[in-house]
Amino acid sequence: MDSIVIKGNGPLKGQIPIAGAKNACLTLMPATLLSEEPLTLTNAPRLSDIKTMSALLGSLGAEVSSLQDGKVLAMSSHKLDNHVADYEIVRKMRASNLVLGPMLARLGRAVVSLPGGCAIGARPMDLHIEALEALGAEIELKEGYLHAKAPKGLKGAVHELRFASVGATENTVMAATLAKGTTVLKNAAREPEIVDLVQCLRKMGAQIEGEGTSTITIQGVDRLSGATHPVVTDRIELGSYMLAPAIAGGEVELLGGRINLLEAFCEKLDSAGINVSETENGLVVARRADLIHSVDVTTEVYPGFPTDLQAQMMALMCTADGVSVLEEKIFENRFMHAPELIRMGAQIDVQGGVATVTGVKQLKGARVMATDLRASVSLILAGLAAEGETVVSRVYHVDRGYEHVVAKFAGVGAQIERVKE
Ligand code: EPZ
Repeated sequence: MDSIVIKGNGPLKGQIPIAGAKNACLTLMPATLLSEEPLTLTNAPRLSDIKTMSALLGSLGAEVSSLQDGKVLAMSSHKLDNHVADYEIVRKMRASNLVLGPMLARLGRAVVSLPGGCAIGARPMDLHIEALEALGAEIELKEGYLHAKAPKGLKGAVHELRFASVGATENTVMAATLAKGTTVLKNAAREPEIVDLVQCLRKMGAQIEGEGTSTITIQGVDRLSGATHPVVTDRIELGSYMLAPAIAGGEVELLGGRINLLEAFCEKLDSAGINVSETENGLVVARRADLIHSVDVTTEVYPGFPTDLQAQMMALMCTADGVSVLEEKIFENRFMHAPELIRMGAQIDVQGGVATVTGVKQLKGARVMATDLRASVSLILAGLAAEGETVVSRVYHVDRGYEHVVAKFAGVGAQIERVKE
């Protein structure tokens, strides 16, 4: 198993290109199931999760070709010959559940393994089920699989999500594109990845309004055509690398970055004493002074502070002057990185969904373990600012969401390498 070894060696300088968004690509790919015509995604990220989704779509009978070094995904679902999303694939990646809505809409039936829980939370699918049942689907759980059917097709309806779930919004919007009549989805999630999905579906001929707001209206159509669509920039990869010059010093330009992808996050960086300014090609990030100010953070649905940047922000607050309070309101178990940061000399007190971080002068290198995707990059960030050597194990987590992570950090002067252990 690989580990990543980091030696904190001072300020960073240079440019980091930001890839297409994992969480957009993972919902755009299942959209191919909605049409018999080809769907091509450009600016696709090269990640293990994308390979898992390709394998899942392939198991359903779709063709997925990875072209141009993986940056282009050419997909076609003209003949689907299987409607069962197998546990062996789904258990590897929760986002596999995003084939449920499209398959149900296209085939009138779908059998999808329930993903089960993960390191950060229980991750139930009750909101997905309620919304698809509102569109007329009959869904029952048998031996760990959701058996869904709509033999006469789905029917448009007005439905309000009890919580603005990203996945439930994506599954419902995709399903409603081929339903008879109009669907009005209230309390919908507003994340940029959903806006990107809707823009792609519209290119395929879907009739949708309201993406990016809490109310999305979908006028069902008989069939969808093919399209070519560029995957939106990965705002979470962007935010993660913006914290590198913040925590280690120096100045870094993030190519492809834009403040409007991360306003709540950029406001917190500004309060912490970090300058973020737009350039022709992206964003430049640098500290205003040596000291980082402590700031309080509460994770919320978009446009609030993203939960997927909470772990990375905690790493920064470990070396801030003063006490910061981080409240995690989206997932019930997303502080697994705290004990690992404490091994590096951080002072963190976790009480339920609240972590109180008392900044220290200097973190110290140590052997630490990645527990999930975002926790893994928070430990790498902490290693950039630590005295001595940090060894992060179980880095297969980072491969799920960060392409070429060692090369990108090394490209701005970090002393970092990947080693076989
Ligand atoms: C998406 O997950 C992202 N994943 C997550 O990113 C991200 O953390 C999350 O949205 C929130 O922003 C992808 O897009 C592939 P939710 P998703 O449904 O869709 C509860 C990363 O690091 N809930 O908005 O699964 C759920 O348990 C990943 O890239 C229900 O209770 O998120 C959670 O507590 C991690 N019932 C909360 O809602 C449901 O039916 C938010 O979940 C659905 C969700």
